[in-house]
Amino acid sequence: MATPKRRLEEPSEIETKISFVDGLENRLVYRGIDVGSLAEHSNYEEVAYLLLHGSLPSQPQLDEFKRKMAVNRRIPAGVVTLIGSLPHSAAPMDVLRTAVSAMAMFDRKADSRESLVQTAIELIAQAPTIVTTYHHIRNSRLSIEPDPRLGHAANFLFTLKGIEPDEQDARALDVCWVLHADHGLNASTFAARVTASAQSDMYAALTTAIGTLKGTIHGGANQKVMEMLLDIRDLNRVEEYLGNLLKHERKIPGFGHRIYKGEDPRVSYLRRLAETLCEKTRNMHWFELSNKLEETVIREKGLYPNMDFYSAPLYYALGIPVDMFTTMFACSRMAGWTGHIIEQYELNRLIRPLGDYVGSLKREYVPIENRK
Ligand code: COA
Repeated sequence: MATPKRRLEEPSEIETKISFVDGLENRLVYRGIDVGSLAEHSNYEEVAYLLLHGSLPSQPQLDEFKRKMAVNRRIPAGVVTLIGSLPHSAAPMDVLRTAVSAMAMFDRKADSRESLVQTAIELIAQAPTIVTTYHHIRNSRLSIEPDPRLGHAANFLFTLKGIEPDEQDARALDVCWVLHADHGLNASTFAARVTASAQSDMYAALTTAIGTLKGTIHGGANQKVMEMLLDIRDLNRVEEYLGNLLKHERKIPGFGHRIYKGEDPRVSYLRRLAETLCEKTRNMHWFELSNKLEETVIREKGLYPNMDFYSAPLYYALGIPVDMFTTMFACSRMAGWTGHIIEQYELNRLIRPLGDYVGSLKREYVPIENRK
């Protein structure tokens, strides 16, 4: 006879005003604004402001926000030294998680509740610097100083490659980061909120979030998508490759979603951007391969691509190393995570989820000499 479920805790509800994932309508809104209209008309800095402050900035507010981002991009010298001491084979997501955790010890206001928005802006600004600093260190090159004239996405590409990106590349990454900036109570955001709800500091909550995002069925899926495309390589191998995955009951990276049952609303923008950038680099192969895979998975499994699918050929066309793909997601999501962490502090309630106890309730203690 099955053990009756024992519920020992009351459910703990989280209320949020930051973003809403509408699975019935396949919609996503940030602070009530449709993500599609933000992708078309806005930019990452404006969206980060919206997520943190609750409304779109006026021109002077946006100028001040951008100025604060630009002057805060450098990371402490001690963190650069720490990054330099890590194995050059380290996964970039592990380095980002470790560096963000270490940054708390270089910030005297880390435990303060007074300057949370300032800390959030600093961390949003610094995350790409951590990623490119490690990239140059592991390739035995000198890091490239951030350029305060450039926007957030353009500055990332500049500090990665050492040349100022053209407008098309900078805008593509900017839109991609607008689309990745928040997504309701997804696993990493929830994890961040749990840590914040225990009144731990923002760095601790972000460390939790980055560790969760790394997972291959969460943010880590974008890297897995590109590895799969590189593995398939040939358009004629799509069906055989897919058949093999399904035969072994393996998940196809970049497909399926817990909430959206139709197409993820961010996919059409990412598909278009991936196509445009592949055309620009005169290499349509990865886009055509992605397209064929998408058609085949929809036909064979009825599963739609999620945001991680087309962001893979997009990052590849931008020349971003494959093992850095998930850090791109993290850099963008810093805005959403920090917004949620601040909102959780305001809610001031410990998250203690309802769990069902399904184990035994009547067992005797057996002395060790009598155990079989
Ligand atoms: N490949 C193959 N089958 C998949 C699948 C995928 N990517 N995603 C879902 N399915 C299958 C499930 O195995 C399940 O099949 P079953 O009913 O025969 O057991 C069915 O579709 C329904 O799955 P669902 O309950 O909607 O999935 P979930 O909510 O448990 O999982 C994900 C959602 C995102 C974890 C899952 O789709 C997945 O692992 N996708 C691949 C990783 C990925 O792209 N992650 C990024 C998410 S944004």
